[in-house]
Amino acid sequence: MAELLVRLLTLAAALLLFFATVFGSTGPESRENLGASRIPAQFSEEERVAIKEALKVQGAIQIPTVSFSHEKSNTTALAEFGEYIRKVFRSSLVQHEVVAQYSHLFTVHGSDPSLQPYMLMAHFDVVPVSEEGWEVPPFSGLERNGFIHGRGALDNKNSVMAILHALELLLIRNYSPKRSFFIALGHDEEVSGTKGARNISALLQARGVQLAFLVDEGSFILEDFIPNLSKPVAMISVTEKGALDLMLQVNMTPGHSSAPPKETSIGILSAAISRCSWSGRFLTAIVHPNQNGEPCSSDGEYVAPMNQGFVLEQTPLPNMFGNGPLKKTLELLANEVFLPYQYSLEEPVAISSHCEQADGEEAHNKCACQDYDSPHHVQRGHQAVNVIPPLAQATINFRIHPSQTVHEVLELVKNIVADDRVQLRVLRSFEPLPVSPSDDQAMGYQLLQQTIRSVFPEVNIIVPGICIGNTDTRHYVSITNGMYRFNPVYLQPQDFRGIHGINEKISVQNYQNQVKFIFEFIQNADTYSQPAPHLHEL
Ligand SMILES: *[C@@H]1O[C@H](CO)[C@@H](O)[C@H](O)[C@H]1NC(C)=O
Ligand SMILES: *[C@@H]1O[C@H](CO)[C@@H](O)[C@H](O)[C@H]1NC(C)=O
Ligand SMILES: *[C@@H]1O[C@H](CO)[C@@H](O)[C@H](O)[C@H]1NC(C)=O
Ligand SMILES: [Zn+2]
Repeated sequence: MAELLVRLLTLAAALLLFFATVFGSTGPESRENLGASRIPAQFSEEERVAIKEALKVQGAIQIPTVSFSHEKSNTTALAEFGEYIRKVFRSSLVQHEVVAQYSHLFTVHGSDPSLQPYMLMAHFDVVPVSEEGWEVPPFSGLERNGFIHGRGALDNKNSVMAILHALELLLIRNYSPKRSFFIALGHDEEVSGTKGARNISALLQARGVQLAFLVDEGSFILEDFIPNLSKPVAMISVTEKGALDLMLQVNMTPGHSSAPPKETSIGILSAAISRCSWSGRFLTAIVHPNQNGEPCSSDGEYVAPMNQGFVLEQTPLPNMFGNGPLKKTLELLANEVFLPYQYSLEEPVAISSHCEQADGEEAHNKCACQDYDSPHHVQRGHQAVNVIPPLAQATINFRIHPSQTVHEVLELVKNIVADDRVQLRVLRSFEPLPVSPSDDQAMGYQLLQQTIRSVFPEVNIIVPGICIGNTDTRHYVSITNGMYRFNPVYLQPQDFRGIHGINEKISVQNYQNQVKFIFEFIQNADTYSQPAPHLHEL
């Protein structure tokens, strides 16, 4: 999932938002058609070994398909990955196209052209790693204690390999799909999918394809995410938040620290940010304490409810623009207030910000000094570096709830900041994605629900949710209104640290179940029949 992925805390809140729509798992599945042609999801020992080996040592995890930035990815590895899947999955029944050089589109032609096709999606690029802190080398794909370790094990090579493997297992059993479907494997999802997914979408549009629905990564079967709720919860995300990266900038004439102006640029900026934080709407802040203006990886991010407020200008703690105590402040805040917040039924708009002073290293050093209780003091404390930086900038990342628009959030911020000296610059924005249907006529949702019930009979809470991060689905808005994000994989809070963090891993059992799920799902899509619409008695 993309950069500012799945935030543990906001995810839990999103989940609660939808709690009203909890489905029980009891009762017969009326639509399940266990026809004679159905192939049971039973795999031989040999096949089970092949399933896990394909994900790890043979290649998938070992190929470092890193997206470093929009411009830079390991194209050698991306090409190598293409060779790998060609080698492992070579069914001639499936049409295979390479799109935008490295992405892959598979077309599986069903026997009944009257059935509307669907699409399964995944991505095989991964975020960069820093080797430090990994129990096993991040691209080793080693299996240890029942887990396959490595970058991409959860995000999202598991899905890539599981989809291909499930299809292969069906085809070698001579299964012949009735409903056509596509498999779209993106190579640049972690950096927005503007090459891979966007080109695949353009290609499908050019061919006049309209999808019944699509299924991508984005949510999981969540376990132990909500205190006092020990039951697993399968969350199918039906929408994604939008985003607005807004730079707040204050440029004041340079002053000398021996006579500091009453208000420094940092002070003005801080006040503006804290006004945002005090507005009741923004409940959550995800702050990237940064050294070089780079947001930290997800395990370096700290989440605090903004309604507790952290007033940068007046805080008793120093280093608000630095890496040290800011982290701690937010950590503490998060520890202190997380629980009541979690139970708030109001959907939060998350803010993530990383603050930096524009004059670089020098400024950073100044900020990193200790024992001062406001930015003014920070500057005065350094006699050797005594020029107050004229320019202060902070970038705030707003995650926009599906009920709001980018424009509304921008207006809101303008009104709250209410200070002409603070310039607002939109660095990037996109609207929240449309909410896909989850009613009993919604084929994609119903198929996911049906398959969850049969593969994970112990899961009896299935909810539609909001995906906090963004996925490649956003490029397909014009070819379907049914976009679902669900990984049939159990996820516990500690697993979150692996996604974009260290020690990413998936249990062999989880992974084999994922293959089984897709194996079942493809068959369910072939036997699905639209329920009769409800007839209301007059
Ligand atoms: C890119 O991938 C190739 C293998 O596909 C690997 O040998 C090389 O070290 C990778 N480069 C970087 C910078 O990660
Ligand atoms: C398709 O991918 C190419 C790179 O291979 C990119 O330059 C181009 O913008 C993409 N086209 C679309 C419609 O996204
Ligand atoms: C949740 O569990 C904790 C102990 O784990 C307990 O103290 C608390 O009362 C429970 N809250 C509710 C609402 O059940
Ligand atoms: Zn990701």
